[in-house]
Amino acid sequence: MRISFCCAHTKAPPWLEGFGRALPHATIEEWVTGDAPADYAVVWSPPQQFMDEQQGLKAIFNIGAGVDALMKLRLPPQALVVRIDDGGMAVQMAEYVCHALIRHFRELDCYEDDVRHGAWSYRKPRRREECPVGIMGLGVLGERVAQAVAQFEFPVLGWSRGAKDLPGVRCFAGEAQFDAFLRGTRVLVCLLPLTPETRNIMNAANLSRLMPGGYVINVARGAHLVDEDLIALLDSGHLAGATLDVFRTEPLPEKHPFWTHPKITVTPHTSARTLRDETIAQIAGKIQALERGEPIAGVVDVGRGY
Ligand SMILES: NC(=O)c1ccc[n+]([C@@H]2O[C@H](COP(=O)([O-])OP(=O)(O)OC[C@H]3O[C@@H](n4cnc5c(N)ncnc54)[C@H](OP(=O)(O)O)[C@@H]3O)[C@@H](O)[C@H]2O)c1
Repeated sequence: MRISFCCAHTKAPPWLEGFGRALPHATIEEWVTGDAPADYAVVWSPPQQFMDEQQGLKAIFNIGAGVDALMKLRLPPQALVVRIDDGGMAVQMAEYVCHALIRHFRELDCYEDDVRHGAWSYRKPRRREECPVGIMGLGVLGERVAQAVAQFEFPVLGWSRGAKDLPGVRCFAGEAQFDAFLRGTRVLVCLLPLTPETRNIMNAANLSRLMPGGYVINVARGAHLVDEDLIALLDSGHLAGATLDVFRTEPLPEKHPFWTHPKITVTPHTSARTLRDETIAQIAGKIQALERGEPIAGVVDVGRGY
């Protein structure tokens, strides 16, 4: 069995060694143009040329949860596209979102600033019943985040494409219930995949429907958010702030206003990192299952885009 490794921005040797240990009977090599046909591919943002040359793949394993970069390519039609299913990312996402939420809700950023200026300040406690948290996307990551937020006794709302029933979460589904979801939300968390339907979803019209003093946490993809619409709503006072981990252009360009906006916290696409050992174990297990003819989880519906 041949496995071709083609991952941008990734040091190949430790991955190749890890796969070598997990699948000792396979040949796994970093892709170079003109390589022999492989059975499986392990990829992150591969070039179109890789797909054009590797037309015989049985499955393409993406080493992240979001497959938006892959969906832009012409893929071998028979190849399954498989995303990472949690792989240690869900707990990281829960940590990140709870941190951003609580830092905002408890005004820890303001206290930090006061302390830096030598001020022993007092702020009136906020009521968590007045701070409903709405999570767009109730998939592998969104559901885990919803559970974590609910542990802190915030009212939790969730929005997905199909109807869901999750304990402790008021679930909304589809276009028809989107307005009610937004109007009931003060802190909006984006955990949607990037698809033609969800691109620019956090625009002026939708963000204006959040409760006054709303807060935005974007941990999905930069293109979910219309940057200038967020800034206008922060400057008008309708929104109180935002924590952003993902951007339309990454790294965030030097002159981008998000760097210096006083109501925006920026992190460098770090909310949930791919963990190498967990990812190798998951992909190796799925390759073995496919070789035995068994079904696997995490197969992307290419027509739907996630
Ligand atoms: N910042 C980071 O470091 C980082 C790390 C990992 C992932 N991510 C991002 O997080 C995203 C979510 O990951 P995941 O593993 O949770 O994905 P997932 O399991 O595929 O879940 C996606 C969720 O979004 C919902 N959804 C999709 N299209 C929708 C639409 N048009 N309207 C309403 N709901 C819609 C789905 O609804 P149904 O349940 O009804 O299908 C599902 O609940 C990834 O695609 C990636 O972009 C970011």
